[in-house]
Amino acid sequence: MRTPAPHPGRSVKIDIHAHFFPEISQEESQVLGIDDAPWLRVDNDQIGMIMAGNNEYRPVQAPLWNPQARLAEMDANGVDIQVVSATPILFSYVGDPGRATRWAAQVNDAALEMCAAASQRLRPLCQVPLQDIDRACAEVTRAVAAGHVGVHIGNHVDGRNLDHPDLLAFLHHCADQGIPVLVHPWSMMAAERMPKYMLQWLVGMPAETHLAILSLILSGAFERLPADLKICFAHGGGNFAQQLGRVENAWHRRDIVRQDCPRPPSEYIERFSVDSAVFDDTTLRFLLDVMGESRVLMGSDYPFPLGEIHPGKMIEESLLFSDATRQAVLYDNAANFFGVEND
Ligand code: CO
Repeated sequence: MRTPAPHPGRSVKIDIHAHFFPEISQEESQVLGIDDAPWLRVDNDQIGMIMAGNNEYRPVQAPLWNPQARLAEMDANGVDIQVVSATPILFSYVGDPGRATRWAAQVNDAALEMCAAASQRLRPLCQVPLQDIDRACAEVTRAVAAGHVGVHIGNHVDGRNLDHPDLLAFLHHCADQGIPVLVHPWSMMAAERMPKYMLQWLVGMPAETHLAILSLILSGAFERLPADLKICFAHGGGNFAQQLGRVENAWHRRDIVRQDCPRPPSEYIERFSVDSAVFDDTTLRFLLDVMGESRVLMGSDYPFPLGEIHPGKMIEESLLFSDATRQAVLYDNAANFFGVEND
C-alpha cells in the first residue's frame, strides 16, 4: 500500500517508453512482400485492429495512431513529452533486407508525420532493418537527420544476441553518431511453452531483456563499445537488477563465467540505463538503489494493457522517493539521455 506524499505538486514529465502504430494500410504493408505483414485497420475514430495479413492480431484504441487523441491523454496524465517508439510487431527483422529497409523508412516517415502534430511533445525513435547492418546504419543516420531522437531496436535478431559482431557494429555506429538506443524485448524465447496467461509478457519479456544485458556484459562487449554509447533497456531491465547478485557470485566463483568479462558484472552498470516500468514503488526503489539515480528513466509502456495507467503517478505519490529522485526519474535523466527538453 502506498502512502501519498504530502505535497505531490506538478512535475514536468517525459515518458520514454510509449508505443505508436502509424496508419499503415494493407496495401502499404505489401512493401514487405509477406503474407502476414502488419498493418492497421481503423474501424472508427475510437477503435481499430492491428492486423497480421488477413488475421486480427490485437484490438487497439485511437491514441495508438491518432496524435490528437494521444495528446489529450498526455494532458490528462500530465505527461509533457513522450519519446515514442513503434509497436515491436513492426520491426520486421526477418525477410528480404531491401524490402525491410523500404519498410523501415516508411514506418519512420509515418512516425514523423504523426509527431508533427506536436513536434516538441512527441519525439519519435526510428526503427532499422537490423538483419542488414549496413542498411541499418544508413537508415538510422537518415532518420535521425530527418528528426528522430534515437533508435528503438529488438533485443535479438535471427538467433543473434546483442553481443554478435554485426549488432555491436550497429551499436558502435550509434555511439559514434551520438544516437541514443532503446532496447525492447520481442519474439520471446520458449514461446511454445507460454501459450496462455500472457506468460510471454510476464516471463518471456523480462528474461529476454536480462539475456540482452548479460550478453553485453559477460561477452566483454562493453569493453569494446565506446563509453559514451547511450543504451537503455525497457521494463526496468527485466530480471537484471534482481538477479545481479547471482551473476556476481557466478563471476567470482566460475572461470567460464568471467572468461570474456574482465571486471565484475556490477561494474558495468554505469554503461547503461533502464526505464521505470516495474509498477511497484518498492521494486522501483530497489531498482534505483542498484542502477543509481541517474540511470532510471520514466517509461510507462503506454498505451497498452500492461502499461502504467497514469504514467509517473506512482513516483509522484510514493514516499520512497525524494524530490530530487522524482525530478531525476521523471524528467532530468530522459532529457539528458535523449537530448529533449520541455519548452
Ligand atoms: Co513496450
